[in-house]
Amino acid sequence: MATQPASTDIASRTSAVISEFKGLEGPLLPILHGVQEEFGYVPGEALPVIAEALNISNAEVHGVVTFYHDYRNHPAGRHVLKICRAEACQSMGGDAMAARIQQLLGIGFHETAQDGSVTLEPIYCLGLCACAPAAMLDGQVIGRLDDEKLEEIVAEVRL
Ligand code: FES
Repeated sequence: MATQPASTDIASRTSAVISEFKGLEGPLLPILHGVQEEFGYVPGEALPVIAEALNISNAEVHGVVTFYHDYRNHPAGRHVLKICRAEACQSMGGDAMAARIQQLLGIGFHETAQDGSVTLEPIYCLGLCACAPAAMLDGQVIGRLDDEKLEEIVAEVRL
């Protein structure tokens, strides 16, 4: 798994992201996206730096980070697998696929395998409803998930 940077490094890199987006109207989300791009996740140490720069409370920043499913609070694994949990996919057997992939990988949603191979995340509609149930592996969409495709995915992330 990726090692976490030191706090001083986090503070200075976070400040650089903040100065890039601070001038925007409603800068918090762009800053959080920028921080996640910078580190691959939103480190806890970045939150007070953001709060201070925007003159809002730590709790507010924390609330936004936890509200949006896209932000993660730990470094991602080498692969990121997102399984669609929205309605169209659910109605096409997405629940069973979600249960099966957790069983195959031995981790739950928002978790990373101990060997750092993969992070499993829910996503809410990939715009691929016609090919439900859908998933995304490292940015590539995969439609019509079935047991066989899940097993191929697992074999790929474990390589
Ligand atoms: S609901 Fe899953 S892709 Fe749209």
